[in-house]
Amino acid sequence: MTRRGKVTVVGSGFYGSTTVLRLAEYDIFESVVLTDIIEGKPEGIALDINQSRSIENFETKVIGATTTADGGGYEKTANSDVVIITAGLPRKPGMSRMDLIDVNAKIVRQVAENIAKHSPKAVVIVVSNPLDEMTALAQLATKFPPNRVMGQAGMLDTARFTHFVAELANVPISSVKTLTLGSHGETMVPVPSRCTVNGKPLTEVLSEAQVSDLVTRTRNGGAEIVALLKTGSAYYAPSAAAARMAKAVIEDAKIVMPVCAWVDGQYGISGVYLGVEAEIGRSGVNKIVETKLTDSELSALKAAAEAVRAKQADVKDL
Ligand code: 2OP
Repeated sequence: MTRRGKVTVVGSGFYGSTTVLRLAEYDIFESVVLTDIIEGKPEGIALDINQSRSIENFETKVIGATTTADGGGYEKTANSDVVIITAGLPRKPGMSRMDLIDVNAKIVRQVAENIAKHSPKAVVIVVSNPLDEMTALAQLATKFPPNRVMGQAGMLDTARFTHFVAELANVPISSVKTLTLGSHGETMVPVPSRCTVNGKPLTEVLSEAQVSDLVTRTRNGGAEIVALLKTGSAYYAPSAAAARMAKAVIEDAKIVMPVCAWVDGQYGISGVYLGVEAEIGRSGVNKIVETKLTDSELSALKAAAEAVRAKQADVKDL
């Protein structure tokens, strides 16, 4: 089997290291690089994952690289095809994702500049929070075309919604389809009109009140886990989402996924990074795919765009 593509994951926290483990276990990439500014941490995690190869039967090797703010160590990431940026602080209980904007903007800007220098052709997937704003900032700092910079949020929020529906309806996860659009925050837009259970509209399976509760629970999905963990935030579902996006890029899969992408005219919204469905392939976002929304879903999406637009404009000064 031919393994192809180089993927770098920046940040060796739980999110980054779990993403790297998933990528390595796919066993389809030529190499996977894990970086961190904490000396020895990425090398240690890489060695540990590599030592699991004979048990889990994968050949892809993980390379660990300690990096510095001024770009030291980034040589090992050179010419990556995909770079996933997980660097930054996670939330603490009671914090909103927006509370992280100042501290994470500095980190994401610096990382994005170093990535642009060493991997000028990469597709960048941002997962650092606040997600929509950090994605916009990574595009500004890399100066990459907007289609080559996207954020991971919709895959995760949709997966959470799907889980909640499957649990309440007491059906296998595979029989549920859901969708969330909008921001990865207060203005997340779960889209009940696009949700089905065994092909039936969600509203025929659950009551209006039940759907409304699940929409709220999905919107607070990250905070619910932060409150339970007490330190750190979710990483199993988030890493699954980010790894699948990287795989879709390297395989030029041209599959439609909900992601945070640059929207330019679709849904009557322009010039903003927002959660929408998009076809993902070798060049990142091939195209935004518009779906039919109810009037209230469309106005919620437009409200989400306006809510993130102002903050995204601010990030250029952070
Ligand atoms: C979450 O929602 C980490 O933002 C991510 O859990």
